Amino acid sequence: MLRTHTCGELTEQHVGTQCTLCGWVDTLRDHGGTVFFDLRDRYGKTQVVVSPEQGQELLQTAQGLRAEYVVRVTGQVARRPPGTENPKLPTGQVELRATALELLNRSLPPPVSPAEKDKDLPSEEVRLRHRYLDLRRPSMQRVLQLRHRMTKLMRDHFDELGFLEIETPMLGRSTPEGARDYLVPSRVHPGKFYALPQSPQLYKQILMIAGYDRYVQVARCFRDEDLRADRQPEFTQLDLEMSFVEMDDVLAVIDSLVARLARELLALEVPLPLPRMTYDEAMRRYGDDAPDLRYGLEIHDISDLAAESQFRVFRQAVEAGGRVRGICVPQGTRHYSRKGIDELTLFVQQDFGAKGLAWFRVEEGGKLNSPIAKNFDEALQQRIAQALEAEAGDLLLLVADQYELTCRALAGLRRRVAQQLKLVPEGRMHFAWVVEFPMFEWDEELGRWQAKHHPFTAPRPQDVEYLESDPGRCRALAYDLVINGSEAGGGTIRIHDPELQQRVFRVLGIDEQQAEERFGFLLEALRYGAPPHGGIALGLDRWVMLFAGCESIRDVIAFPKTQRAMDLMTGAPGPVDPEQLQELHIRVTAPQRQ
Ligand code: AMO
Ligand code: AMP
Repeated sequence: MLRTHTCGELTEQHVGTQCTLCGWVDTLRDHGGTVFFDLRDRYGKTQVVVSPEQGQELLQTAQGLRAEYVVRVTGQVARRPPGTENPKLPTGQVELRATALELLNRSLPPPVSPAEKDKDLPSEEVRLRHRYLDLRRPSMQRVLQLRHRMTKLMRDHFDELGFLEIETPMLGRSTPEGARDYLVPSRVHPGKFYALPQSPQLYKQILMIAGYDRYVQVARCFRDEDLRADRQPEFTQLDLEMSFVEMDDVLAVIDSLVARLARELLALEVPLPLPRMTYDEAMRRYGDDAPDLRYGLEIHDISDLAAESQFRVFRQAVEAGGRVRGICVPQGTRHYSRKGIDELTLFVQQDFGAKGLAWFRVEEGGKLNSPIAKNFDEALQQRIAQALEAEAGDLLLLVADQYELTCRALAGLRRRVAQQLKLVPEGRMHFAWVVEFPMFEWDEELGRWQAKHHPFTAPRPQDVEYLESDPGRCRALAYDLVINGSEAGGGTIRIHDPELQQRVFRVLGIDEQQAEERFGFLLEALRYGAPPHGGIALGLDRWVMLFAGCESIRDVIAFPKTQRAMDLMTGAPGPVDPEQLQELHIRVTAPQRQ
């Protein structure tokens, strides 16, 4: 070994010993002939002192050091002079007084400085292009360490419960999870393509049929979809499947995982079982199937009261079969001026297509104040204030529209207001299940039903009879785990009866022939003794994000892609040699751009 210790290791107990450290030069100061620098590795930083007494040669080497040079230092561990200790660092009581200094490598001036404070970073583009420098930053190293520990704890948890980790193919047939596939052309079979897995869904069901009743995998998934702050084209699932289980059994193994991770990684005690809410209730109370439950701002429906008012907008909305719903912002009148309210109005109009935003300032005795208040007599004003559980000083924000639109707009408003008024308590984590999702979703554009989760999801037994007559009414044995308002996992109990599977395909407009073509192998396997089974996949990247408190999924992945699905460091995706294309019988018709 070139070193005896790491840069995070030396403390008072090492004072007087001889040590050798290796690392990168972090910050460097020349104090009248004595050179001080912090030496950094992924374990921490140690202050090194090179004084003139050690001779000119050593001092000159030290004076020639620059940021990110790689060095090896040997010296004596000494207590720092009184008043120069750094209580923030574990190594802050000591310094290494160098007796030998070896330059192992130089560095160009770094465009991303690992020594800088996180807030002084260059643009993300520069960080991703020089990711090796960005990954040297202590905050990135902490996140990747957390990611490692989380993945290991997950593996340990399922290992102890008797799960087997089994790998499934990357090159396979398309698995429908609602995104576009990444395709891989076959050279051996010209004109044919593999699809990279959107998830291991079909393979894990086949594994259940094969008798591996508890499967788990840290699985890479690929989805060509519009990217957001919490989405990557290539991401990781903690994927699992179980046989001979019902929904409660699947939720229970995840509940215990949540409690364990929260305890070991965050020192938080999470009471079990985790709270559950149906999809319908989540939409009714929060307008959102992944509600953030760390704060209130619950939605109230005042359609009945609105219909009694003289306000045309409200009456017409209710007459047209819509709803009038809203939230009460506690002491909102202090935070929102007229201008602030106008901004919220614009937000719900532009982002959600709301027609407007009605608002009231609540005064003493439930009196409402607003340009539209004259349309509501005093008794009605009081009843509205009561319905929204409002007190003097609160601000009421209301949207009148079709139910679905009020959901979307008010969910957006909830998140926006909570963010603006800083209603999210620091360090708070909230875990909850949302269950009983609809089986199907009507796709306006395509004019047909789509699977809300995926087409292998089982309906609740009591809803099977409505499959054909009223698909919109069918609820599924489906569940999502929501952490702090983010969809952190989702799963379902599966259909294990081939006839029922065919019926669901038919509702989705997949006829027998198409089903045979796309999922024939699954339908066939279901006919060879498929056990009842179900499972779930957790979005591992999102878990790390949430546990680390990161804003962007790119900050928890060593080599992520940009919003435009590019790897700025390697330049992927890139052009390929014409010979490669020829072998694959592929002709590129897109104009080549540099
Ligand atoms: P689903 O599609 O809900 O279910 O995915 C499971 C979880 O994976 C995470 N996730 C993503 N994370 C980052 N980037 C993405 N593009 C991305 N897409 C999804 C989310 C999500 O909750 N086969 C089913 C699971 C099952 O039924 O067992 C599936 O893949 O956190
Ligand atoms: P108007 O009568 O269109 O001038 O609107 C009066 C107030 O009602 C304005 O503050 C609008 O933002 C609001 N408003 C208009 N349409 C709606 C609606 N569908 N839901 C809630 N508020 C609305």
